Amino acid sequence: MIDKNIDGKQMLSFRIPWKRLGSAAASQQYAMELTHPLYRYPAMMSPYIARILIQNLTQPGDIILDPFCGGGTTAIEALSNGRNVICSDLNPLACFVTRAKATPLNSKEILTLKKWVCSAQILLHNWRNIHPIQIPQIDRPFVAPKTRSLIYLLKDTTVKIKNAAVRHAAMLLILRIAQLSFDASRKSPSPLRLVKLFDKYSNDMIRKMQFYSSLCNSRGMYKRPLFLDVIKSDANNLNQTHFGINRDRISLILTSPPYPGVHVLYHRWQIDGRKETSLPYEILGIHNGFGPSHFTLGPRHDDFNEQYFQRLIEIYARLRNNISHDFIVAQIVAFPKPQYQLNQFRSAMNKAGYLELNNFNNNKSIVREVPHRRWYTYFSPCNGSSKEFLLLHHPKRFDGGFEITSDSQFRLWTKTLQGFRRR
Ligand SMILES: C[S@@+](CC[C@H](N)C(=O)[O-])C[C@H]1O[C@@H](n2cnc3c(N)ncnc32)[C@H](O)[C@@H]1O
Repeated sequence: MIDKNIDGKQMLSFRIPWKRLGSAAASQQYAMELTHPLYRYPAMMSPYIARILIQNLTQPGDIILDPFCGGGTTAIEALSNGRNVICSDLNPLACFVTRAKATPLNSKEILTLKKWVCSAQILLHNWRNIHPIQIPQIDRPFVAPKTRSLIYLLKDTTVKIKNAAVRHAAMLLILRIAQLSFDASRKSPSPLRLVKLFDKYSNDMIRKMQFYSSLCNSRGMYKRPLFLDVIKSDANNLNQTHFGINRDRISLILTSPPYPGVHVLYHRWQIDGRKETSLPYEILGIHNGFGPSHFTLGPRHDDFNEQYFQRLIEIYARLRNNISHDFIVAQIVAFPKPQYQLNQFRSAMNKAGYLELNNFNNNKSIVREVPHRRWYTYFSPCNGSSKEFLLLHHPKRFDGGFEITSDSQFRLWTKTLQGFRRR
């Protein structure tokens, strides 16, 4: 935290590295490092922005909460920077992916994973002699039955892996190559394509997992291992029992909630052109019977996003009540129509009991052009200029009877936060 002198007025500001955040926002790159690319979850946040926020707004050993964890970006960045993390998501696919990507493996576990990869390669290279097996009758049963039975045979081999973290890593690899073969592909993938993808990506996965795990293991704090909690829950149902004794140590909520007015297919792949399939759930053997609006906080056709903002207010008001001390909320949110949705979002946060932290340097928001994503096509109407905004808030608190609204009271609040961190 630093003192700033603007127009002769002393103001207090966090040491938020606006410049670095601005350059990270300018990057349109996909993150290829750590375990981020091991599953392409829709609308993943920029890990570069997440990293800068974690390094600057928290201290090693703190706890970070992500109530909409999706593909696990916050979890991976938190653990590899020596912070503990509690993640939750309504989507069981997101919970699986977060857990599998972000759980570091020790050297023995990496060895077990390597052995499984070798045995799976032997099985796959024999694909011509394999007869299609009976596979569950899911939607689109006629698309690439041979390739799908190969996936089920691979899946069967993971059952023998006793260690849960290794088994999840193996399933993640199967999910990744299945996604690369099926999702958004125009043609039905052949078994040979699956075999080639496995050869190409299995070593890459092991290398990434090894590097990520060594980074996490070297960052363990106070001789205590770091922890990762993944909870499958509606963010609105998170309560003190989910946070347990740790709730006093949550210093940052870092997340990206569903975007207002955007229909992202968090729970479907598209095969054979644009036909939606629940194949990822079938592969993992988890329940998927939800409608298209289940994971978007609001229905597809709600021009003013009323339900979306109502639910957002409830969720953030509840989080504020459940975490009794001060913390920061950093959110990355995209708006297809920022000209009015941004203000709606700000007003919702205000109603939920939060104040925005401004960039005292030039009062400009950190904005990122959304890199080309498939959900672009789901804007209604699509204006082709979607932007992601970084928004920082902190809860309004009553301190000696005063609500923190002015700069001087803001100073008081930051002192409270420093006190909390020293404990
Ligand atoms: C924009 S994505 C999060 C992406 C994530 N930050 C990442 O980097 O991969 C939003 C997530 O919110 C989840 N979600 C939607 N409604 C929810 C709710 N009511 N409670 C918890 N999670 C919800 C969706 O399943 C989706 O995974």
